Amino acid sequence: MSVSVVVGAQWGDEAKGKIVDLLAQNARYVVRYAGGSNAGHTVCVNGASYKFHLIPSGVLHPHVTAVIADGVVMDLRAFAAESDALQAQGVDLSRLRIGLGVHLTLPYHRLLDELEEAQLEGRLGTTKRGIGPTYADKAWRVGVRVADLMDRDRFAQRVHRVLQRRNPTIQRVYNAAPIDADALITEFASYAERIRPHVCDVPHLLMNAAERSESILLEGAQGTLLDLDYGTYPYVTSSHPVAAGACLGTGIAPNRLRAIWGVAKAYTTRVGEGPFPTELTDERGDWIRNRGREYGTTTGRARRVGWLDLVALRYAARVNGFTALAVTLLDVLSGLDTLKVCVAYRLNGAVTREFVADAPTLSRCEPVYETLPGWSEPIGACRALHELPANARAYLQYIQNYVGVPIRLVSVGAAREQTIQCE
Ligand code: IMP
Repeated sequence: MSVSVVVGAQWGDEAKGKIVDLLAQNARYVVRYAGGSNAGHTVCVNGASYKFHLIPSGVLHPHVTAVIADGVVMDLRAFAAESDALQAQGVDLSRLRIGLGVHLTLPYHRLLDELEEAQLEGRLGTTKRGIGPTYADKAWRVGVRVADLMDRDRFAQRVHRVLQRRNPTIQRVYNAAPIDADALITEFASYAERIRPHVCDVPHLLMNAAERSESILLEGAQGTLLDLDYGTYPYVTSSHPVAAGACLGTGIAPNRLRAIWGVAKAYTTRVGEGPFPTELTDERGDWIRNRGREYGTTTGRARRVGWLDLVALRYAARVNGFTALAVTLLDVLSGLDTLKVCVAYRLNGAVTREFVADAPTLSRCEPVYETLPGWSEPIGACRALHELPANARAYLQYIQNYVGVPIRLVSVGAAREQTIQCE
């Protein structure tokens, strides 16, 4: 398997970081392909906990070259803070590579995201990390890339040009203070020197590695239902978390993808606004949120919690072409008498098994549930499928049958070793 991809199968926060960390044991390259510092992964190894936002978590493995590919957007202030924190924990970042084509999230992107989110109307509940405005500038062909930053004059020229358009908006539409272009250019000159040793032509690095059959692991951020095209627009992020996005973001051709891993929680969570058919707003939701410590790594926001939505998961399996599933946080569900899984939606009197991505229509869908028996035993110490309670095995079997994709990994706790490999 030379190229594998790990994709979030829900609305993000599926504990992909842990699955990437496990699969990275056999990888030569671990590559982030989309999103920016809106993402957050926590990886626990030997009692230490490492927080990642931009840097691929695979960097924890000494044999791995970690790559931030061109589909990512990068906030260099956030990157500096993240690298400082990781280096203070002893993580070696010398093998990090950053693509010349990466678009920079600059202070005006973040400011515009914050100002827009402060308006009551049309709020999306973004992470306010400037992601939308950065990708919007990229599509509008006024983005600033790492390649520009490597040449001070070119960088200064592009920043001045774009601020001529953005500052009037910041001042007149939002009544906020404009961005000082010269201060920005001076600040970013120091970041330029900091990242310069890591910058390279990522598509060629990866195409050459793929041709040598070196093992490449493509690491997704966010999740399928937050995809700009296939998610619940407009309550989505601005990039393509789906497997096809991994090709766009890295330059690796689709025919090279061998394993496409979907990572799904044993229940569902969502952060920010937008429809969520299986949401639990009662004490069972609070119970799952507390047991699962469902608070954002990036923003600290409480996540919305609900039953597992198999309609959405099957959609994710079809959109991405999952070849394997990893089910995470199964241990959180220990102690519930019964579990519900959503097997269809009821809409306008009809019942459908097809996901409804249109947000206003999805908000009118009522979940049709199947109720399955729960289990009471803690399962954090189980290391093989047969050690799980029979009802936990039946729950997994139900998911596998419904989605039609084999479950190959089950996570029963945050630590690397709290994982069951299913053959
Ligand atoms: P943005 O990506 O900051 O523009 O936010 C757009 C939507 O995606 C919001 O609903 C966010 O809460 C959600 N989102 C962005 N990144 C993540 C993530 O890593 N996990 C979960 N939700 C996310």
